[in-house]
Amino acid sequence: MTNKDSTILRQSLHGQWSSRIVFILAVSGSAVGLGNIWRFPYMAGINGGGAYVLIYLLCIFAIGLPIMISEIMLGRRGRRNPMTSMELLGLEETGIKSWKYAGVIGLLAGFLILSYYSVIAGWTLNYFMLTAQGLFDGIGPSGVDEVFNALTLSIKTQVVFHTIFMALTILIIAKGIKAGLERAVTIMMPALFIIMVVLIIYAITQGNFLEGLSFMFRPDFSKLDGSSLLSAMGQAFFTLSLGMGCVFTYGAYLPKKESIFNSTIAIILCDTLIALLAGMIIFPIVFSYGLEPAEGPGLIFKTLPLAFGQISGGTIFGSLFFILLGFAALTSAISLLEPSVAWMIEQKNVSRKVSAITIGLGIWALGLLTVLSFNELSDFTFWKGTVFDNFEHLASNILLPTSGLLFTVFASWFMSKKSSSEELNGEHSWQYRFWRFLARYIAPIAVLIIFLNVIGIF
Ligand code: PHE
Repeated sequence: MTNKDSTILRQSLHGQWSSRIVFILAVSGSAVGLGNIWRFPYMAGINGGGAYVLIYLLCIFAIGLPIMISEIMLGRRGRRNPMTSMELLGLEETGIKSWKYAGVIGLLAGFLILSYYSVIAGWTLNYFMLTAQGLFDGIGPSGVDEVFNALTLSIKTQVVFHTIFMALTILIIAKGIKAGLERAVTIMMPALFIIMVVLIIYAITQGNFLEGLSFMFRPDFSKLDGSSLLSAMGQAFFTLSLGMGCVFTYGAYLPKKESIFNSTIAIILCDTLIALLAGMIIFPIVFSYGLEPAEGPGLIFKTLPLAFGQISGGTIFGSLFFILLGFAALTSAISLLEPSVAWMIEQKNVSRKVSAITIGLGIWALGLLTVLSFNELSDFTFWKGTVFDNFEHLASNILLPTSGLLFTVFASWFMSKKSSSEELNGEHSWQYRFWRFLARYIAPIAVLIIFLNVIGIF
């Protein structure tokens, strides 16, 4: 299986997407998550709004686009889990097997990220129930602090919701590509979009919409500095699910005839649109109660419930908001689990069910450390802080840029022009040349800058 011809014939061992639309929905489902609805608005909030949004958009198109195309391309050509694909392609294109470690880093990152992502996603399920019960109705600032502290201090509550969330994720993955992944995204993605539209209308009519808009789109460059530039790049990475083998693995199930370039554009536009819409929902609601958006991570779990507690219809629309967050997180979580499950099926020759349950249980157990980071182990700090802080730092700031960089460099510098252009519109097309320029020069240099900054070199 290591000669050139086999590349063309190689088929995915796990099946294929039924259509391009499903593929776009699945990758968009992966991309749209807590990163868009929770992280993006608060990052924009603490970095001064409009100017940050502008830089973020630049990063999405100059760095995110070429890396996403590279990952899908490698996935489709390798047709295996990220580790095995990189090993096969490394051998075929360069005669060197060690490229597989790029895939290994991606697999590890996905494992690690899902362990804490699931705990935070569990919080959103808990908040959905609390909001629906009307707990936030008329609540004051100290009230929302109390609710949030009660949740993070309770091991039991967090474990219960983390368990529910992981169980749902495992269930979907165990059912396979068509009955699991496809069905989940074709139901949840349209639902997510409809809920967003409803909430936008609510924000326009009930919130301070103009102030929200002006906060997001009026650039105030005085607030920008080197670190906000770097955090915008990091956010672009995280929000597009890059460097983790998710997009790579989904690419392995993409039929040969579908255009990678057009699909990527659709996915990126969808992810960006949802991040901007999330801001247009959250900021007007926050401003309507005269609150400050620069609250950091507490924006969704403290400021927003406080605002929902004051305005009319807050209980219903607040609950809808947290369902939205739960859906967004679930379609991302399945993409985090799939790569290691595909790896285990291929390497250990076990069924999808066994693989999903085994890996899922491992991730669930690791997640307990995140739960404990907010209570029992909150004083146990080293390097970047609690165990949770370290997981997040290691995954988002070190593992992701490293494997994202390796994927892109491999695809644009080491893979032959013949192979890459076969996957991407042919050697003479503008799409191919555009991708190759961004992937060879712009993206690697930018990622290197983030990386060197993170490890403190400059
Ligand atoms: N892109 C997702 C988000 O924005 C997070 C994610 C990261 C999902 C990595 C899958 C893989 O929340």
